[in-house]
Amino acid sequence: MTKCIGILTSGGDCAGLNATIRAVALRAHHGYGWRTIGISHGTLGLLRRPVAAEPLDPARLDAVLARQGGTFLGTTSHGDPFAFPMPDGTIADRSADMVEGLRELHLDGLIGVGGDGSLAILRRLLSKTALPFIGVPKTIDNDVGHTERAIGHSTAVAVATEALDRLQPTGASHDRVMVLEVMGRDAGHIAIAAGIAGGADVVLLPEVRWRLANVVQRIAVCRRAGRTSALVVVAEAAGDSHEEGPRGEASIGEWLARRLMVATGAEARATVLGHVQRGAQPTAEDRLLAAALGVGAVDLLAAGKADRMVGWWNRTVIDVPLEKVVGRSRTVAPDGALMRTARALGICLGDTA
Ligand code: F6P
Repeated sequence: MTKCIGILTSGGDCAGLNATIRAVALRAHHGYGWRTIGISHGTLGLLRRPVAAEPLDPARLDAVLARQGGTFLGTTSHGDPFAFPMPDGTIADRSADMVEGLRELHLDGLIGVGGDGSLAILRRLLSKTALPFIGVPKTIDNDVGHTERAIGHSTAVAVATEALDRLQPTGASHDRVMVLEVMGRDAGHIAIAAGIAGGADVVLLPEVRWRLANVVQRIAVCRRAGRTSALVVVAEAAGDSHEEGPRGEASIGEWLARRLMVATGAEARATVLGHVQRGAQPTAEDRLLAAALGVGAVDLLAAGKADRMVGWWNRTVIDVPLEKVVGRSRTVAPDGALMRTARALGICLGDTA
């Protein structure tokens, strides 16, 4: 009997999701003769009746999909089955309705593409069913444990690096300090990677306790050396690792630019990069990762495995128990390769000048 698997994307979108969905459906079809059903808007599709889902026809999953950002299935960051936001403002447990929705689809397995929050929620939901569940890590933040890369991170780093490439000439032309605020939630993976690749003078992360005085001093050193402009990358959560911090302010980047202007006497401008880091065309690296992890997830279901996540480690697809992954977000290691590289290149991380 032909098997049928489901796939959904959950949490914030990122580049590489379409390539993942395509890889899953193609592997299921060509490798095992299985059908794949795409569930619409993450767990939200499971609440609709009939369930909002569509069979994925392999003949229509053209390679053009792998080039596109976003997720053609749609996604949600507001679909926690156990704490579901109701229209009247209350919070309800809708897990039973979602389990019922899964039953309607008559699936033999489910693949969920999400960050550690979404994977935790899906794991808990699936534990109420007998359905084998496999997680695929995606997030621009790259903070999922037990994988060197999550789908979407490479593209976000490429976008942030390109932003620095564009800020440098305008900053240099006007003798300005250019501050770039990047996403990453509680982790500084995007900031440190883009800061190195884009030639930043200063990179501020939530993982390193930094002082404004050190940043000011570094900019003064640049200016004394004859360079009147500087590039500063700041992770969106870096305010938490500064003693004063921009408490209650929307943007650490704007706050920092204002403070640097006063403290250095130089003109400063802030760019808050925001969601352009998520919506770009996926890099080749993200497309490759999506393909490898999508195929790997289907192969795990075929091998009879469940409650696991596929990951990328040492140029190989691995799989780990989901319980090791969920609830443990991975931040930038203080003694990791990128941190050491940044220091070796003389990039100021704000803990010293
Ligand atoms: O987790 C991905 C992410 O883009 C974070 O980097 C950012 O803090 C957050 O999502 C933004 O969420 P939203 O799309 O809800 O504004």
